[in-house]
Amino acid sequence: MKLSTSKIPLFLLLSLVFSFSSPVHGRIYHPKSRHRHHQSSSGSIALPPSMAEPPLPSPSNVFDVMTFGAAGNGVADDTEPFRNAWDSACQSSGAGVVLAPSGRSFMIRSIIFAGPCEGRIVFQVDGIVMPPNGPDSWPQNNSRRQWLVFYRADELTLQGAGLIDGRGQKWWDLPCKPHKGINGTTLAGNCDSPVALRFFMSSNLTVSGIKIRNSPQFHFRFDNCRNVIIDSIAINSPALSPNTDGIHVENTYNVGIYNSVISNGDDCISIGSGSLNVEIENVTCGPSHGISIGSLGKKNSRACVQNVTVRNAVIKHSDNGVRIKTWQGGTGSVSGVVFEGIKMDVVKNPIIIDQFYCLAKPCVNQTSAVFISDVLYSDIKGTYDFRAPPIHLGCSDSVPCTNITLTDVELFPAEGDEILDAFCWNAYGAERTLTIPPIMCLLEGLPRSVMDYEVDRCY
Ligand SMILES: *[C@@H]1O[C@H](CO)[C@@H](O)[C@H](O)[C@H]1NC(C)=O
Ligand SMILES: *[C@@H]1O[C@H](CO)[C@@H](O)[C@H](O)[C@H]1NC(C)=O
Ligand SMILES: *[C@@H]1O[C@H](CO)[C@@H](O)[C@H](O)[C@H]1NC(C)=O
Ligand SMILES: *[C@@H]1O[C@H](CO)[C@@H](O)[C@H](O)[C@H]1NC(C)=O
Ligand SMILES: *[C@@H]1O[C@H](CO)[C@@H](O)[C@H](O)[C@H]1NC(C)=O
Ligand SMILES: *[C@@H]1O[C@H](CO)[C@@H](O)[C@H](O)[C@H]1NC(C)=O
Ligand SMILES: *[C@@H]1O[C@H](CO)[C@@H](O)[C@H](O)[C@H]1NC(C)=O
Repeated sequence: MKLSTSKIPLFLLLSLVFSFSSPVHGRIYHPKSRHRHHQSSSGSIALPPSMAEPPLPSPSNVFDVMTFGAAGNGVADDTEPFRNAWDSACQSSGAGVVLAPSGRSFMIRSIIFAGPCEGRIVFQVDGIVMPPNGPDSWPQNNSRRQWLVFYRADELTLQGAGLIDGRGQKWWDLPCKPHKGINGTTLAGNCDSPVALRFFMSSNLTVSGIKIRNSPQFHFRFDNCRNVIIDSIAINSPALSPNTDGIHVENTYNVGIYNSVISNGDDCISIGSGSLNVEIENVTCGPSHGISIGSLGKKNSRACVQNVTVRNAVIKHSDNGVRIKTWQGGTGSVSGVVFEGIKMDVVKNPIIIDQFYCLAKPCVNQTSAVFISDVLYSDIKGTYDFRAPPIHLGCSDSVPCTNITLTDVELFPAEGDEILDAFCWNAYGAERTLTIPPIMCLLEGLPRSVMDYEVDRCY
């Protein structure tokens, strides 16, 4: 059955428009309707942006992939219909809607949806979108490192009631994945697996309401983007799926991640080098490897991360809670980090700074390191896995961490009543209130080395 664009019901169009910028507490970026400035200067009662003159896309601006010849049966290759629907939406003036309708399932190969486009684009996934099933079905000439890519796609909203299913199982089971070879070995070989959704060099992005599961690798990767809002999404992959970070950002400024639920096999959210102004609020992680800044400074690289706030989060059944991880030998800095109002539920290492991060052992200690300073842990409560210290602040020998503050931290073992000690190494700072466990190992004041040597502060 073909659904012609003229039959898109009005309520759907309205819901597209109104959900495009529904106000959410804590947002840092509001997609603006075109005439908002004009309206506020007229002195009329200010309306939230979503209510003010929504630019209603006319039905001719809805590009349903079915009208571009998609089969929507989950078997046929629907890549070209998606490409053509995108191209048409991208070339249409005003807001264009690419629609993957409900009740249908679309198999599409690796594809780059490229801009710049004439107007804003809404990529509306109401059905199921999935890639070829595993590495054997992946076309030889397709990239194995990415599946759906949005490139130079400014003012894009990805939303919908549908599902993006990465069908990752066969990728996770490759014998080159950790312990997936014969008898639990890890075989050598190129183990590239696709990131499900990659946003590259794009500004003013909104991802809202979408469900995504079982990515072969990271679920979302934002690289070289500006002004990103992620709201009310759900990410779900098994706890043992390798390298399936939920949301990864790098070289990206002004990111807000809100009201989302993530369970996966690696970092829930990972914040890589070049991230500036990141706000995470009301996110539930777990099982996962927690919320991480890093890893940074690998292979002697320079890394800069500044102004990251994580507020009102729940982290459960995870290998880490809130973590900053850097390799020996890096340069650059991490500063202005706030972890506030975080509930831990059976987490190993709820609070951890690890400046000796090392995946390919052995790693040698080096004299340079990414400088970590101005980190606040406030109101962090709950339970930890009794096998790991609840607070671990392991800083480089030559470049100490400075101005680490803890307040209202209360962490109890999930089992038994033996309270483990906090661990610190070369960490300077203060506890403002007594913490549980007590943290006697923080060093006071400022270290001589930071005053003696030039530390590489990024900003
Ligand atoms: C990949 O190969 C298919 C089939 O041979 C061809 O149709 C397609 O254009 C190729 N794609 C690229 C990106 O080269
Ligand atoms: C796997 O382990 C079993 C039992 O230890 C052994 O008999 C078998 O030779 C091993 N296979 C390989 C390929 O190493
Ligand atoms: C992104 O949004 C900001 C604020 O509304 C605007 O000034 C800027 O031009 C937009 N950038 C792009 C590339 O659309
Ligand atoms: C927090 O996020 C959850 C899950 O998306 C949502 O149900 C809840 O309403 C949000 N809470 C607030 C205060 O926004
Ligand atoms: C820090 O980032 C938040 C958004 O996450 C932003 O509102 C704030 O202005 C930034 N602070 C500075 C000093 O740039
Ligand atoms: C690196 O330094 C740390 C702290 O001094 C020490 O615990 C660790 O054993 C060292 N690692 C190596 C490989 O020398
Ligand atoms: C220490 O860090 C806090 C944030 O945790 C910041 O407000 C304060 O200015 C920093 N102090 C110094 C001396 O930089």
